[in-house]
Amino acid sequence: MKNKILLAASLFFFICAKAQKFEGLALTPPMGWNSWNTFEVNINEDLVKQTADEMVSSGMKDAGYEYLVLDDGWMAMERDSEGNLVPDPKKFPHGMKVLVDYVHSKGLKFGLYNCAGTKTCAGYPGTRGYEYQDARFYASLGIDYLKFDWCFTDGINAKEAYTTMSKALKKAGRPIVFSLCEWGTNKPWLWAENVGELWRTTGDISARFDGYLDHGTWKQSGVMPIVDLQKGLRKYAGPGHWNDPDMLEVGNGMTESEDRSHFSIWCMLAAPLIAGNDIRKMPAATKEILTNKEAIAVDQDKDGIEGFKYKDVDSLEVWVKPLENNAWAVCFLNRSYSPMNINFNWKDEIINDTLFNKTLNAKEHNYSIRNLWMKKDDGNTQKPLKAKLASHDVIMLKLTP
Ligand code: GLA
Repeated sequence: MKNKILLAASLFFFICAKAQKFEGLALTPPMGWNSWNTFEVNINEDLVKQTADEMVSSGMKDAGYEYLVLDDGWMAMERDSEGNLVPDPKKFPHGMKVLVDYVHSKGLKFGLYNCAGTKTCAGYPGTRGYEYQDARFYASLGIDYLKFDWCFTDGINAKEAYTTMSKALKKAGRPIVFSLCEWGTNKPWLWAENVGELWRTTGDISARFDGYLDHGTWKQSGVMPIVDLQKGLRKYAGPGHWNDPDMLEVGNGMTESEDRSHFSIWCMLAAPLIAGNDIRKMPAATKEILTNKEAIAVDQDKDGIEGFKYKDVDSLEVWVKPLENNAWAVCFLNRSYSPMNINFNWKDEIINDTLFNKTLNAKEHNYSIRNLWMKKDDGNTQKPLKAKLASHDVIMLKLTP
C-alpha cells in the first residue's frame, strides 16, 4: 500500500513537472522578425507598424514568419512607482497595447524582450524579483512571445531563474512562447525542455561568414563558428523545444551566396527562423532567400529532427536532415574561398542517422531529387551528383524515395 502511494505521488510530481510550461507551443521552429540585429535599441512605434505591414505585403507572413518581436530598448529606464514596467513614452507614445493590437490585426503575433538579471543587456529594468508581476503585464498586453536574456545575473542560478519565469508565465495564464537567451553558458539543452520552447546555444551572431567581431570583453561570432558550436546538440531538439543558434543575419551585409548558405544551414538545423534585417528596404535577392518556401519546409518539417554534418572533405561539407515520409534534405556547403567541384555518388554513401533511426540508402531506394534553390526537379540518385559550387555557396536538395 505504502509503495502504491509512493508510486502515485511520484507519478503526480512527474506529470506536474512535465506540465510546467504551456503544452503545444512551437511544434515547429518559431519564425518571425526581431528588431535587434539591425536596430538595436533604436526602435519605435512607426518601425513596428511599418514592419508589420511589410511582413504581410512582402510575402513573409505567407512564407510562415509569424512573430514580430521587439528586443531590448522598448522600456523606459525605470519601473513606475508600483514596480510595473513602462514602455518608453518617447518611442511608444501610445503605449504597447495599441501596437500589440495592431500587429494582431495583421494576423501576426507579438513578442517582447526582457532579462533574467537585474538589468537588460542595454541597461533597462530587468525582471529579477519581478517575475510574476512582469508575466501578468505581458499577459495583459496580450503578447505571444518572450525573449529572456542573461545579463546582470551574477550569483543567479540559470535553471532556477528561467524556471521561475516559466512558472510565472504559466500562472499568468496566456500561452507565450518562452525563448531562453542564456547563450549556452549553463547548457540549457540539458534542463530547458520543460522550461521554454527554444534556447540560445551560443553567444551573439554577427553578419559575417567566418571569424569573430571582438569587443574586448566579449565577441560576436560569424555564421560558421556558430554552426560549429551546434555539434552534439541535435539530440536535445524536437517539437516544442529547439536549439537556437541565434537570429538571422540574412540581408545584413554578407554576400548573396553567404546569405543563402546561412539560411540553408539554419533550415538544416531546424533552427528558429527569426529575420533580423530591415524588411522595409529588402532587396529582391534577400526576399528571395528569406521567403524560399521549399527551404523553409525543410526547417518546418513536422518530424522536427535537427540535421547534422555527414561529411567534411577539404572544406566541402555535406549536411543531411531526415524529413517526414523517409525523405531527406541534403545540403552541400563550400566553406572555402575558391570554387569547388562536387562529385558525389549517392550509391556509395549509406547515410545512417543512428540517433533517430533513419537511413538514406540510394543503393536500395531510388530517390528523386528536387533542387530547392533552383526550384526545379533534378533527376534522381541513380547518377552521381556532379556540380561546380562557388565559394561560400550551397546546393540544397530534397530527396524523396
Ligand atoms: C544580448 C542578446 C542579444 C540581444 C541583446 C540586447 O546580447 O544575446 O540577442 O537581445 O542582448 O541587448
